[in-house]
Formats: sequence, C-alpha cells, structure tokens
Amino acid sequence: MRVLILGMDGYLGWPLALRLLARGHDVAGIDNLYTRKAVDEVGSTSGLPILSPEDRVHAVRDIMGKELEFIVGDVTKYSVLSKAITKFKPDTIVHFAEQRSAPYSMINVKHANFTLRNNLTGTINLVYAVRKYEQRNPGKKIHMVKMGTMGEYGTPNFDIPESPYVNAQIGGKNDKIVVPKFAGSWYHWSKVHDTNNLLYANKIWGTTITDIMQGPVYGTRTKEITNDKLFSRFDFDGVWGTVLNRYCVEAVLGMPLTVYGKGGQTRAFLSLEDSMESLRLLIENRPEEKGYRVVNQFTEVYSVKDLATMTKEVAAQQGMNVEITEVENPRVEENDHYYNPEHKILPSLGLTKPTRNIREEMGIILKDLAKHKERLEEYKEAILPKVRWRK
Ligand SMILES: NC(=O)c1ccc[n+]([C@@H]2O[C@H](COP(=O)([O-])OP(=O)(O)OC[C@H]3O[C@@H](n4cnc5c(N)ncnc54)[C@H](O)[C@@H]3O)[C@@H](O)[C@H]2O)c1
Repeated sequence: MRVLILGMDGYLGWPLALRLLARGHDVAGIDNLYTRKAVDEVGSTSGLPILSPEDRVHAVRDIMGKELEFIVGDVTKYSVLSKAITKFKPDTIVHFAEQRSAPYSMINVKHANFTLRNNLTGTINLVYAVRKYEQRNPGKKIHMVKMGTMGEYGTPNFDIPESPYVNAQIGGKNDKIVVPKFAGSWYHWSKVHDTNNLLYANKIWGTTITDIMQGPVYGTRTKEITNDKLFSRFDFDGVWGTVLNRYCVEAVLGMPLTVYGKGGQTRAFLSLEDSMESLRLLIENRPEEKGYRVVNQFTEVYSVKDLATMTKEVAAQQGMNVEITEVENPRVEENDHYYNPEHKILPSLGLTKPTRNIREEMGIILKDLAKHKERLEEYKEAILPKVRWRK
C-alpha cells in the first residue's frame, strides 16, 4: 500500500512512518517542521534529541534498509498537497499535520487564530485535493485517516458513542444527529470543526474517512525504535508536554510530579506502541467505500492522579524518590466526572488489550530520559504551566 503521512516529523508521524515501512508499505511524508519551531518559541525543546529531516531519511536507509520520501512543505498551501498527491499516488493519507497543543492555542488571540486557521485550512485543503485526485483518476478511492482527539467530546454525563451520529429525540421528534461534543480549548474545538467538515465532505462527495478520537499517548519506544538515532520527539514542557511524559521528566529531574488540581480528571490513554499498532490496523483494514468510521483510540483509562502515583512508584524502583504535588489547574475542566467512552472497533480488529504494561513502559521512558538528564535540566524552567484558561 502507498501511504502519505501529513505531519511525518511529529511525535506520532515519525514512528508511524517506521511502522509502515517495516510492514512493507511505500511511505512518503510532508511536514513544515512547525512543531520544532513552536516548541522553541516557548523556551523548550524535544527531551530526546531528534535528527534533521535529511538525517532521518539517511538513518532509515542505514538502519532499516528502507527508502523514505520526506517533503518539507506546508499543507495549508493547497498546491503543496495536491502536487504531492498527484506525484505519490497514495492509497491512504494520514493527517497529523496540525497545531496540537491545547495550552498553545490558549496563549492569546494570535495563537487561537493560528490554531484554527492552520488546522481547518489543512483539512479543507486535503478534502479538496483528494476529491480532485479521485475525479481525475476514476476508480481510485483514497482512504483518509484523520487524527482527532478524545478531547473533542469533553466529559459528558452519557456513554461516549463510537459513531459519527446518534439517534435523538428533540421536542418529541426523532432524528439522527451528529454526536454532541463540548471541547475544552480552541485546539480541541479546531478538531470538532474538522470533524464537522469531514462529515460534510463524506456526505456530499462520499470521501472515505476514518476519524480517530485518540487519548493522550505516552512512551519513547516502539518495535522499530530500538536504535536511539530513530527516536521520535518527546515533549514535556507546560505547553507541549502530554501528562505522563511530563511526569517522567519531572521524576528524572527530582522535581515533584505536578498534578493539575485534585487530579480526578479521568482520561483514556495509550502507549506509543499501541498508538502505532492501532493506526496500522486501521490503515490495513479500511472502512467500506464512501464510509465514515469514527474510532475511539485508547487502551486504558486513568485519572491523572493515578498516573502520578504509578510514576512515583516506578521512579522509586530506579532510585528516583519524588513527591507528588497539586498545582492550581490552569485549565477549565471538571475534577470529578463520569467517563465511559465506547471502545469496540479496535478490539474487533484484534487490539483487545494494551500490548505493553504501563509500569514497564514508564520504566523504559525513565531510563531513556535519564541518559539525557543534562539536556532536560537546561529546560526545566519550561515545565510548570504558565498559560491559564481564565486570566
Ligand atoms: N500526541 C498525543 O498524545 C495525541 C493525542 C491525541 C491526538 N493527537 C493528534 O495527533 C496528531 C499528531 O500529534 P503529535 O503528538 O505527533 O504532534 P506533533 O506536533 O509532534 O506532530 C504534528 C506534526 O505536524 C506538523 N505540522 C503542523 N502544521 C503543519 C502544516 N500546516 N503543514 C505541514 N506540517 C504541519 C508539525 O510540524 C509536526 O511535525 C495531531 O493532530 C494531534 O492533535 C495527538
């Protein structure tokens, strides 16, 4: 299969390229290296060193014996995307190329607008470019795999369905409506708007889409990332870091693990390895032609306090004794809430349980980070949250 990855330089895009190459697929990717620059803008860096795009391509050739095409380009420029599609002729396009930090989107009006413009424009460009390509190549149907987030739903008091639509009765009348969502940042809202736009493209043009609602991902290693030259980026600061990755850096630096608020916020998580395995399964098992498949992508559900407790225990086994501290929650979110997302599609494809034990995975992350303690030390000022939702 030929797979084009938008956002291939990112935390998920890079290991996905490696996973698909290892499976024997042909892979090309586009990235404008925006995350590298934006992390720098907030005074941080990737906790693990990553190679330049050119060196990444060389490392893949040397270590895996595979060829990979890396296009440095911006998907908000329509011509970049349409040219890449015409040239590479993908069967599947995976779309990760978005601004993906909630705090970054909440810094001020400039960052809110950038997030909405970047994310919505890239997705609209993609649906038009795919439409045009399919019109010019009768019989060819591209499968679009779009990465959204579990954060699109918020924390509703109902079971979160794994489906684009639900039946509802409003004013005594029955109808099928789009699943109600209430996101918790401009970033998360950009993903909800993306979903609406994709549903519309599917309705009017029959674009074949898998819309993934993924929980926060943690980890440094996958089956392919066994050589440090193949590391993916690893963000840990108050703007770009996902929660468990941040705790692990705090543990390595001997800092208290910072739980936002009381820590009762419950979310659906998965390891980097399981994120890759899920994506592989969804790419290799496409939905029916003109179908629209929503997938809730996660393997485990924890509160952020539970994760801090586990990190503390695993860190202690490696001689890192750290405390847990509650810091004022910069976000606007419920501390105690109902949370029950439906999860049947990935199990039906074979991913029935986490393939890696979370505590073992934490141990691996801590060991990888400990080798780069000096680098992390340099950026420790960037760890505490500075962006507040209500300021
Ligand atoms: N990491 C997680 O825990 C997580 C969880 C749920 C959803 N997601 C979503 O998955 C996707 C990938 O996340 P990630 O963690 O790899 O983020 P990332 O920031 O590491 O990767 C995104 C990549 O897209 C690129 N990009 C952004 N805008 C672009 C543009 N206009 N043109 C070309 N490239 C562009 C960035 O440079 C970056 O390399 C994102 O859409 C994110 O919202 C991530």
